Amino acid sequence: MYVKILIIILSVGCQFKQPDVLDEKIKVPDIKRGKTLVFAYGCGVCHTISGIRDYPGAIGPPLTDWAKRKYIAGKLPNRMSELILWLKNPQAFEKNSAMPNLGISQDEAIDIAAYLYSQ
Ligand code: HEC
Repeated sequence: MYVKILIIILSVGCQFKQPDVLDEKIKVPDIKRGKTLVFAYGCGVCHTISGIRDYPGAIGPPLTDWAKRKYIAGKLPNRMSELILWLKNPQAFEKNSAMPNLGISQDEAIDIAAYLYSQ
Protein backbone atom coordinates (compact mmCIF):
# COMPACT_ATOMS: atom_id res chain seq x y z
CA MET A 1 0.00 0.00 0.00
CA TYR A 2 2.63 2.58 1.08
CA VAL A 3 4.92 1.48 -1.71
CA LYS A 4 2.10 1.97 -4.25
CA ILE A 5 1.42 5.49 -2.94
CA LEU A 6 5.12 6.28 -3.05
CA ILE A 7 5.37 5.11 -6.65
CA ILE A 8 2.36 7.26 -7.61
CA ILE A 9 3.85 10.33 -5.90
CA LEU A 10 7.22 9.79 -7.56
CA SER A 11 5.75 9.29 -11.03
CA VAL A 12 3.54 12.38 -10.71
CA GLY A 13 6.59 14.34 -9.51
CA CYS A 14 8.59 13.21 -12.52
CA GLN A 15 5.82 14.23 -14.93
CA PHE A 16 5.83 17.74 -13.49
CA LYS A 17 9.59 18.06 -13.69
CA GLN A 18 10.21 16.80 -17.21
CA PRO A 19 9.05 19.81 -19.30
CA ASP A 20 11.36 22.18 -17.33
CA VAL A 21 14.36 20.01 -17.97
CA LEU A 22 13.56 19.67 -21.67
CA ASP A 23 12.96 23.41 -22.11
CA GLU A 24 16.23 24.43 -20.50
CA LYS A 25 19.01 25.38 -22.90
CA ILE A 26 22.35 23.96 -21.89
CA LYS A 27 25.44 25.98 -22.72
CA VAL A 28 28.61 23.94 -22.80
CA PRO A 29 31.51 26.03 -21.44
CA ASP A 30 34.17 26.76 -24.05
CA ILE A 31 37.54 27.31 -22.32
CA LYS A 32 39.32 28.35 -25.54
CA ARG A 33 36.71 31.01 -26.30
CA GLY A 34 36.95 32.07 -22.64
CA LYS A 35 40.66 32.80 -23.07
CA THR A 36 39.95 34.84 -26.21
CA LEU A 37 37.31 36.81 -24.30
CA VAL A 38 39.59 37.43 -21.31
CA PHE A 39 42.08 38.88 -23.76
CA ALA A 40 39.45 40.87 -25.70
CA TYR A 41 37.91 42.42 -22.57
CA GLY A 42 41.36 43.39 -21.31
CA CYS A 43 40.97 41.62 -17.95
CA GLY A 44 44.78 41.32 -17.92
CA VAL A 45 45.13 45.12 -17.79
CA CYS A 46 43.97 44.91 -14.17
CA HIS A 47 44.58 41.29 -13.18
CA THR A 48 47.51 38.90 -13.34
CA ILE A 49 45.98 35.85 -15.05
CA SER A 50 47.78 32.62 -15.98
CA GLY A 51 48.14 32.35 -19.74
CA ILE A 52 47.50 36.07 -20.32
CA ARG A 53 50.86 37.79 -20.22
CA ASP A 54 50.54 40.91 -22.30
CA TYR A 55 49.63 43.39 -19.59
CA PRO A 56 51.01 44.48 -16.21
CA GLY A 57 47.82 43.42 -14.36
CA ALA A 58 48.42 45.09 -11.01
CA ILE A 59 45.18 47.05 -10.46
CA GLY A 60 42.93 44.21 -9.25
CA PRO A 61 43.84 41.06 -7.29
CA PRO A 62 45.77 38.32 -9.12
CA LEU A 63 43.53 35.56 -10.54
CA THR A 64 46.21 32.85 -10.58
CA ASP A 65 45.24 29.44 -9.11
CA TRP A 66 41.67 30.68 -9.25
CA ALA A 67 40.08 27.25 -8.65
CA LYS A 68 41.74 27.11 -5.21
CA ARG A 69 40.19 30.38 -4.04
CA LYS A 70 37.37 30.11 -1.51
CA TYR A 71 35.67 33.49 -2.06
CA ILE A 72 35.03 35.97 -4.83
CA ALA A 73 35.88 39.51 -3.70
CA GLY A 74 35.80 38.17 -0.13
CA LYS A 75 32.02 37.89 -0.33
CA LEU A 76 30.64 35.20 -2.60
CA PRO A 77 31.48 31.51 -2.40
CA ASN A 78 33.77 30.73 -5.33
CA ARG A 79 31.45 28.64 -7.49
CA MET A 80 30.72 28.78 -11.22
CA SER A 81 27.23 30.25 -10.74
CA GLU A 82 28.44 33.05 -8.42
CA LEU A 83 31.44 33.85 -10.60
CA ILE A 84 29.14 34.28 -13.61
CA LEU A 85 27.01 36.74 -11.62
CA TRP A 86 30.09 38.63 -10.46
CA LEU A 87 31.54 38.92 -13.98
CA LYS A 88 28.24 40.26 -15.36
CA ASN A 89 27.78 42.87 -12.64
CA PRO A 90 30.34 43.31 -9.82
CA GLN A 91 28.44 46.33 -8.45
CA ALA A 92 25.47 44.11 -7.64
CA PHE A 93 27.63 42.65 -4.85
CA GLU A 94 29.93 45.54 -3.99
CA LYS A 95 28.46 48.94 -4.73
CA ASN A 96 31.81 50.77 -4.90
CA SER A 97 33.81 47.99 -6.53
CA ALA A 98 36.62 49.27 -8.77
CA MET A 99 35.97 46.35 -11.11
CA PRO A 100 33.94 47.86 -13.98
CA ASN A 101 30.73 46.41 -15.35
CA LEU A 102 32.03 45.44 -18.79
CA GLY A 103 28.65 44.48 -20.26
CA ILE A 104 29.55 40.78 -20.39
CA SER A 105 26.73 38.49 -21.60
CA GLN A 106 25.65 35.28 -19.85
CA ASP A 107 27.29 33.06 -22.51
CA GLU A 108 30.51 35.05 -22.41
CA ALA A 109 30.60 34.93 -18.60
CA ILE A 110 30.25 31.11 -18.71
CA ASP A 111 33.25 30.78 -21.03
CA ILE A 112 35.35 33.32 -19.12
CA ALA A 113 34.57 31.57 -15.81
CA ALA A 114 35.50 28.20 -17.36
CA TYR A 115 38.85 29.66 -18.46
CA LEU A 116 39.59 31.06 -14.99
CA TYR A 117 38.81 27.71 -13.31
CA SER A 118 40.99 25.88 -15.84
CA GLN A 119 44.09 27.91 -14.84
C1 HEC B 1 39.69 48.32 -14.60
C2 HEC B 1 40.26 47.17 -13.94
C3 HEC B 1 39.56 45.84 -14.05
C4 HEC B 1 39.19 45.16 -15.18
C5 HEC B 1 39.30 45.58 -16.63
C6 HEC B 1 38.68 43.87 -14.73
N1 HEC B 1 38.72 43.79 -13.36
FE1 HEC B 1 38.23 42.20 -12.23
N2 HEC B 1 38.57 43.26 -10.54
C7 HEC B 1 39.10 44.54 -10.52
C8 HEC B 1 39.20 44.98 -9.14
C9 HEC B 1 39.73 46.33 -8.65
C10 HEC B 1 38.72 43.90 -8.35
C11 HEC B 1 38.56 43.87 -6.83
C12 HEC B 1 37.14 44.31 -6.66
C13 HEC B 1 36.48 44.18 -5.36
O1 HEC B 1 36.94 43.39 -4.50
O2 HEC B 1 35.46 44.85 -5.22
C14 HEC B 1 38.35 42.85 -9.28
C15 HEC B 1 37.86 41.62 -8.89
C16 HEC B 1 37.73 40.54 -9.74
C17 HEC B 1 37.45 39.20 -9.33
C18 HEC B 1 37.35 38.73 -7.88
C19 HEC B 1 38.78 38.58 -7.41
C20 HEC B 1 39.02 38.11 -6.00
O3 HEC B 1 40.16 38.17 -5.55
O4 HEC B 1 38.09 37.63 -5.33
C21 HEC B 1 37.41 38.42 -10.45
C22 HEC B 1 37.19 36.93 -10.53
C23 HEC B 1 37.62 39.29 -11.57
N3 HEC B 1 37.81 40.57 -11.10
C24 HEC B 1 37.64 38.88 -12.87
C25 HEC B 1 37.78 39.74 -13.95
C26 HEC B 1 37.66 39.33 -15.34
C27 HEC B 1 37.48 37.90 -15.82
C28 HEC B 1 37.78 40.46 -16.10
C29 HEC B 1 37.63 40.58 -17.58
C30 HEC B 1 36.37 40.14 -18.13
C31 HEC B 1 38.01 41.57 -15.17
N4 HEC B 1 37.99 41.10 -13.89
C32 HEC B 1 38.24 42.88 -15.56
C33 HEC B 1 39.47 45.30 -11.59
C34 HEC B 1 39.25 44.98 -12.91
